Order: sequence, then C-alpha cells, then structure tokens
Amino acid sequence: MEKTIEQIKEEALDELKTASDIETIKALSVLYLGRKGLVTQFLRDISKLPQEKRPGAGKQANKVKKILDTAFKEAIELLKKEAAETDDHIDVSLPGRAVAQGSLHPITQINRQIFEIFTKLGFDIAEGPEVETDYYNFEALNIPKNHPARDMQDTFYISDNIILRTQTSPMQVRVMEKQKPPVRIIAPGKVYRCDSDLTHTPMFHQVEGLLVDENISFGDLKGILNTFIHQIFDTQTSLRFRPSFFPFTEPSAEVDILCVICRGKGCRVCSHTGWLEVLGCGMVHPVIFENIGYDTSRYTGFAFGMGVERIAMLKYGIDDIRKFFENDLRFLRQF
Ligand code: FA5
Ligand code: MG
Repeated sequence: MEKTIEQIKEEALDELKTASDIETIKALSVLYLGRKGLVTQFLRDISKLPQEKRPGAGKQANKVKKILDTAFKEAIELLKKEAAETDDHIDVSLPGRAVAQGSLHPITQINRQIFEIFTKLGFDIAEGPEVETDYYNFEALNIPKNHPARDMQDTFYISDNIILRTQTSPMQVRVMEKQKPPVRIIAPGKVYRCDSDLTHTPMFHQVEGLLVDENISFGDLKGILNTFIHQIFDTQTSLRFRPSFFPFTEPSAEVDILCVICRGKGCRVCSHTGWLEVLGCGMVHPVIFENIGYDTSRYTGFAFGMGVERIAMLKYGIDDIRKFFENDLRFLRQF
C-alpha cells in the first residue's frame, strides 16, 4: 500500500478546495468514493494487511470515507444555494419593465377637451368636407371674388372653384342650409393655408362655433367664450376681446390670451406684444342669414372659430407650433 489513508484524505480535500462547479465535485466523489475509487480500493486492500493491523486500518478508512462523503455533499449544496441566489433569483422588489404604449396626440387630447366643454354647454358636433368649394369657403360668407379679405387667408387652390378649406366657417352655411333655428353647434376639423412660421403651419385645426336663436347678443358670446377659456385653461387666465374684422360677422372681435411663455412681457412667440390670438368671433352678419333664408327680424346669432394648436401651445407652454407635426417621439412622449 503506497499511500496512507490520511494522505488520500488530504489530497481529496485539497482538490475539493479548487473545485468550483458541481460537475467537478461529482467527478471527485467518484474518483475517491466510487466503486473503483481510491478510498474503496484502500478498504478492499485491508484484507492484505497483517491480521493485527486490520481493525485499526478499517476503522480509520471508514472514518475518512464518511468525512469525504459529507464534504462533497456539503460543497454541492453550497454551490446550488449560491446559484439560486444569483442566476435564477427573482427579486420581487425590482420595478417592472414598462411596456411602451402609444398615447393620444396632444392635438387630439385638446380637441376632446374642447368637445367635452361645448357638449356640456349644449352644443352638437357637426363635420364637413376639407376639400371645399369656393362658394362655401368664401362667397356664401360674404367674401366675393377679388374681395381684399381673401388675402387674409392664403389659399391652396385645387382648381378655380375647388380649394382646401382655409377655415371651418363654411360649416356655418352648410349647417344653416339644412336646419331651422335654434342652432347650437361646433364644427371641428383640419384647415389649410399657405403659411409657415413659429405660430403658423400649412395644416392646422379649427373648431367653429355657431349659435342662432331669438334674443342672442354679444353678451351671450362673451359669456360662452369666457366660460370656455376659463375651463380649458384655468379661472385665472387673462383674456381680452380685441375689435377685428371678418366679412361674415358684424361686429367682429379676436380673443387673445396673455402669452404663457413670457407672461405678457413680450417674446418671439407673441411677437413682443404679450398676447397670443386664439380665436376670431362676432355676431353673424345679417347678409349671411338673408342668403340662407333665416328671418333677420327674429333671429340673431354669434359665431367663433378657434385655432386648436394655439390653445395647445398656450396650455403646454410650447414655443414653436411646428413641433406638433414633426412626429419627434421625445416631444410626443411628454403628453
Ligand atoms: C378665421 O379663420 C375665422 N374663420 C374665424 C371666425 C369664425 C371669425 C367665426 C368669426 C366668426 P383667423 O384667420 O383669424 O379667423 O383664424 C382663426 C384662428 O386660427 C386664429 O385665431 C389662430 O388661432 C388660428 N390660426 C390661423 N392661422 C393659423 C395657422 N397658419 N396655423 C395655426 N393656427 C392658425
Ligand atoms: Mg386672425
């Protein structure tokens, strides 16, 4: 017998120290304790020893066998536990990975808020064509051909008589042609003008409003628009009615909101005026009623047309209207 059982034990324990995975430890276990293993071999060879040495050697060898068996098993358990803590361990306190979700475009969101406010005030929603005739977009609104007011809105012409609507006001005429008073509608939609800068885009959204009934005055118009502005912004928002001109309303006004970017001090967004125009409005011109056949001695009404992007700019403090249409996800994700 070349090696003593003690030497075998020390070698086994040394090798175990360097073993770093379960497979290696299992192989070691076979090498020492398997059917042809070194310890097993030692036990078998005891019979070759002189009679008097056999009991002592047997006892010692069995003790080593037990020690090694325990050492291998414990080492395997330890590795299994470590693996569970690192690789497969589930940390239930980790925040979940968010699934990227789309959201409504800011203009859609503002549109929906506008619809909600006006439907609560009793207005119905009417929709009409974006490709419009010259008649509805201009002539029926008291803007004859060659009228200087046409210059207020740079028009995209499809043919002499077919255009992309420059405003939602043609919906006033389309609705009144079909309906007798009282009328109480809003008409939202896209409009087009050959226009592009910080506060103008070639396509933008308007919401038209029209209310016709007996005894409607400019006071009613101011009341409705004040209510609207204070609901869409907040009750502290400053607004002003500034006298203006539209061929289809008389008197006419434009409503400005105190510029939220500079708070009225003047900046490039408000062209250094401190105010930003959000809508045009006025009392429906009697000529429009006469063209349609409404009784002008009985009915009066008001109309307004607002720019949805302008409202969104003011609400979210956006300094360039073109950002709404660049589809930059870093911008859109903020809403
Ligand atoms: C009109 O379009 C009239 N139809 C409004 C009206 C309706 C007056 C009913 C009286 C009665 P105006 O051209 O000012 O008016 O445009 C209305 C609003 O649209 C403006 O106040 C502004 O908020 C917005 N707007 C106008 N042009 C652009 C543009 N190029 N880009 C973005 N918003 C615009
Ligand atoms: Mg204007």
